[in-house]
Amino acid sequence: MFRAVLSKKDLSKVDEYYSCVSDLLSDKSVLSLGGFRHHCGTTRLQHSLNVSYYNFLLCRFFRLNSRAAARGGLLHDLFFYDRHTHERVANSHPAEHANIAFYNAAEMFGVDELEGEMIVNHMWPMTPHLPRHLETFMITLVDKFCAVAEVAAFTLRKTGSKVKLAESFALMLILRLTLRI
Ligand SMILES: [Fe+2]
Ligand SMILES: [Fe+2]
Repeated sequence: MFRAVLSKKDLSKVDEYYSCVSDLLSDKSVLSLGGFRHHCGTTRLQHSLNVSYYNFLLCRFFRLNSRAAARGGLLHDLFFYDRHTHERVANSHPAEHANIAFYNAAEMFGVDELEGEMIVNHMWPMTPHLPRHLETFMITLVDKFCAVAEVAAFTLRKTGSKVKLAESFALMLILRLTLRI
């Protein structure tokens, strides 16, 4: 069952969404992202699913390209190493992983210009180029929202404390604003 953070829906039964990404969600390489920790308590597959689904909803709401939003979201962190221990990118990971994800996505599945820009620029404003498409602005917001929601859900699961939850939110917000990520 595929479920996004803060949602109770089985996404494989949400036809409008699932029809956009069913080929990706049955691919072994994409599913292998479930073996990598991404944010605390969240795998890279779960994070990618979260970004994909909420990016889809947001772009559909604004009548943008929701199919590209769903696919770009699912592929935006398509890299196969532990970012905390991988030697080559240990220091440059925040800047480099979007390019690595783009090359992987293009080689494995093929991406169009819009999907490619969403993947390459999802870390904006950490990346130098201003996004050209509204969908790309959307994914930069959704990616950050999902990271905060994932940490919040983890904190609530672990402690059940709303005070701790508020502390986590505040900490994440300060980190995100300070590091501009
Ligand atoms: Fe990323
Ligand atoms: Fe991400």
